[in-house]
Amino acid sequence: MSIIMSAMLLFASIVDSDELLTVKYMPNSTIQLVHKEPATGLLEYIHNNQEEVDEDGLVIVNDPESIEVVVNKQRKLPDGYEPQNLVEADVPYLAPAGDPKRLVREEVAGALEQLFVAGEEDGMDLVAVSGYRGYDRQKQIYEANVQQNGEEHANKFSAKPGTSEHQTGLAMDVASAAQVAVLEPSFSETDEGQWLADHAHEYGFIIRYPEGKEETTGYNFEPWHLRYVGKEMATSIYQADQTMEEFFQLD
Ligand code: DAL
Ligand code: ZN
Repeated sequence: MSIIMSAMLLFASIVDSDELLTVKYMPNSTIQLVHKEPATGLLEYIHNNQEEVDEDGLVIVNDPESIEVVVNKQRKLPDGYEPQNLVEADVPYLAPAGDPKRLVREEVAGALEQLFVAGEEDGMDLVAVSGYRGYDRQKQIYEANVQQNGEEHANKFSAKPGTSEHQTGLAMDVASAAQVAVLEPSFSETDEGQWLADHAHEYGFIIRYPEGKEETTGYNFEPWHLRYVGKEMATSIYQADQTMEEFFQLD
């Protein structure tokens, strides 16, 4: 094993990508987390999908197994939800064998493999950093972020437990193998970050938290966070330069 690989594995064992973010970022984002009334589109969507709203006003999604599920600050997964069919994809990982971070839903694994093969053919050196995270792991990350940076800051970078796409098994954080520690907006300026922005949709993935859409998604720009939605929706979202919230008119 090369020294670089050993260092990567050590790094992976001590730090999670979202934990890394809490260290790297200063609270200087322009996102304003203001309370706003639910958009008409959101109310219509809730009604059409016969979704329930919990005591805190969060919608409980009723299609957590769907690859089209919208999970965000207003829409949480049902209590105790764990995805079915979590598997490892045949791609290079940062985390060591057996780490749950290597897991994604079965339908995502095949797409991720195709994405990585295409990337390699184009000279990209991609590495999968963080996929599935259970509720408890997300709770640890979120609470550590709040403790370290305060709630307002944490809310821009970490999802509250039950509201992270990582719990769906449909998300994977992908980095440049050469700069694996750089899960920050400047990843978009690397060849790998640019390539993902241009090609991820061809394999069914979207950049879920795009630059300039912070008000809509509620999160800072995350050029590494890929969300699987299937080729058709990913291509529509890419071509229209939208977020999932805009696509479903939930913003
Ligand atoms: N960093 C993303 C928003 C998450 O915590 O799921
Ligand atoms: Zn992520």
